[in-house]
Amino acid sequence: MALITGGLGGLGMLAANELAISGKDHVVATSRSGRPTGMPPALQQLMAAMQTTCPHYMVKADGSDGAVMLDTIQAFCRPGLLAESAVTLGTIITATRSQLETMPDELVRPSLETLERIKKEIIDTSKEASEKVQFGADVTVEDAQEVRDREDEVVDLISKLKTRVDGGGTGPAQLRAIQKTGSELAEQVQELGVRIKNITTQTTLALPQRRMGIETIVHAAGVLQDGLIVPNLQKAPDMWSKVYGVKAHGAWQLHQATTAL
Ligand SMILES: NC(=O)c1ccc[n+]([C@@H]2O[C@H](COP(=O)([O-])OP(=O)(O)OC[C@H]3O[C@@H](n4cnc5c(N)ncnc54)[C@H](OP(=O)(O)O)[C@@H]3O)[C@@H](O)[C@H]2O)c1
Repeated sequence: MALITGGLGGLGMLAANELAISGKDHVVATSRSGRPTGMPPALQQLMAAMQTTCPHYMVKADGSDGAVMLDTIQAFCRPGLLAESAVTLGTIITATRSQLETMPDELVRPSLETLERIKKEIIDTSKEASEKVQFGADVTVEDAQEVRDREDEVVDLISKLKTRVDGGGTGPAQLRAIQKTGSELAEQVQELGVRIKNITTQTTLALPQRRMGIETIVHAAGVLQDGLIVPNLQKAPDMWSKVYGVKAHGAWQLHQATTAL
């Protein structure tokens, strides 16, 4: 997860987009308003495009307020939050299914590998769930059914992809070539939005879940104050405090709030 203070401003939005492209699973943007009010059209377009590849959260949090930042960071790090993996998994299944016929040969094998990893994760999760149920954990009927349905869908896609690999006219030499460039192709699959890192059906279950972690922080919150360098002497303290309150004090608050993580 990436946290960007001032994440709905110009620099913050550019950073958000780059982080989403680089594969962050969630981007959290903080600002005092918590809304993209007055965002220029070009940034709105960028944000809309970014939101198709990465969950984007807008949080109202004044970066110069230490308590607010601590609460915000802790809220986003608590186990079970951002439990959208089932949606992500569903998206992947839908995307793979819709691209099955037209998928270029070189993407078939990496897609197959991705789905096989997902399948393994689903099976591990089911196993873990049934173990926890024995110790009194509560798994709803819907959640259990969801895991089973997802597994069926994944198994079905795997068998279809295997047919393409085995029977789609790909000879041994071509197969070897595909394997050789496997890691390169896996990156392409990631670029298509097929990310396995965060796919865990654990999050569809009412069980203790993994703790979300902040991997990246960009401190882009700021306010401008013209005339700061050659200030009006009477107004200078207010002007400095307005600008440096969020920049320097905000950075310090972030440092303190994340020390506890
Ligand atoms: N753009 C540049 O070329 C450039 C160059 C050098 C330095 N900078 C500095 O980099 C920073 C960001 O630039 P920018 O162009 O992205 O500015 P921007 O478009 O005005 O964005 C600033 C963002 O910070 C938020 N913000 C302001 N005070 C905040 C606070 N106390 N807590 C949380 N969020 C706060 C604002 O939202 P709310 O108003 O809703 O809080 C806004 O989303 C500024 O400090 C700027 O001085 C920019």
